[in-house]
Amino acid sequence: MKLEALNSRFGSDRVVFSEGNGGLAKCNIKTEKAELEFYLQGSHITHFKPRGADSVLWMSTQSEFRTGVAIRGGIPICWPWFGPHPTDARMPQHGFARIEKWNVIDVDDLPTGEIQVQMSLSNSPRTRELWPFEFDLSYRILIGEQLKLELICSNVGSVVLSDIGCALHTYFQVADIKDVQVHGLDERRYIDKTDGASTKWQSGPLWITEETDRVFLDSAEAIQLVESRRQRSVNVQKTGSQSTVIWNPWIEKANAMVDFPNDGYQRMICIETANAGNDVRKIGLGGEHILTAEIAIQEN
Ligand code: BG6
Repeated sequence: MKLEALNSRFGSDRVVFSEGNGGLAKCNIKTEKAELEFYLQGSHITHFKPRGADSVLWMSTQSEFRTGVAIRGGIPICWPWFGPHPTDARMPQHGFARIEKWNVIDVDDLPTGEIQVQMSLSNSPRTRELWPFEFDLSYRILIGEQLKLELICSNVGSVVLSDIGCALHTYFQVADIKDVQVHGLDERRYIDKTDGASTKWQSGPLWITEETDRVFLDSAEAIQLVESRRQRSVNVQKTGSQSTVIWNPWIEKANAMVDFPNDGYQRMICIETANAGNDVRKIGLGGEHILTAEIAIQEN
């Protein structure tokens, strides 16, 4: 749908579709409670700010905005595999949901003052070239003081979907990575991707002091990102996810990425609500899998 059509069907003084960076279509939403921006490519949220609070998400100042290229920062949706494709290195990292253009299905002004957007992505000749299955993905974004995300994957084909990997790969903006503690992972086993995918155990809160790329297993509980000096914490509550990925590229990896500023690692941390590692899912005929994440900010 063209921008004009999107605005006449779903637009209002609070919901505006326009041409964003790189000429890609985006939507800006502003209510009494919060503001949010997302791109139709990838249904990619690039900004969320509850009223009176700082921006919640980190965006790379060097991100590309180009058709078919992943945006760096915000909330990419990794699907239907997480990380590299399990058998074919030519396939896009983290699947194709983050680089496909999604459709806007509905924008609802709720009586609570919140706005709910519903996006969808279905199989197309292009997705079938990468992954020969039929699916419907539905993404609901509920914009209030909290941000509620719901990703529903439906199997609309005639074969079982196996080993579905997924992540709401959320880049949180932090004031200083040295002040960050991640709670909710104590006594959890994790795969350390920086150390030959060896399995280790987390003890106590996680501090980021080096390159960190960990898939935490048996991690279904809420995660808290605490910044003590900044007197702020973020709570990520989730369902349908028993794994959490924590990523910070640190110095060398940040330098090596063209779309990532060299000092960007000091101001971000990814806390990813995931189906990764042994938490990949099987979806039977006519079945669905629902992943949700609820992001709430507390400033003291
Ligand atoms: C994380 C992975 O989820 O995403 C890392 O665990 C990866 O291994 C990172 O480097 C960024 O991935 P990409 O494809 O967006 O550069």
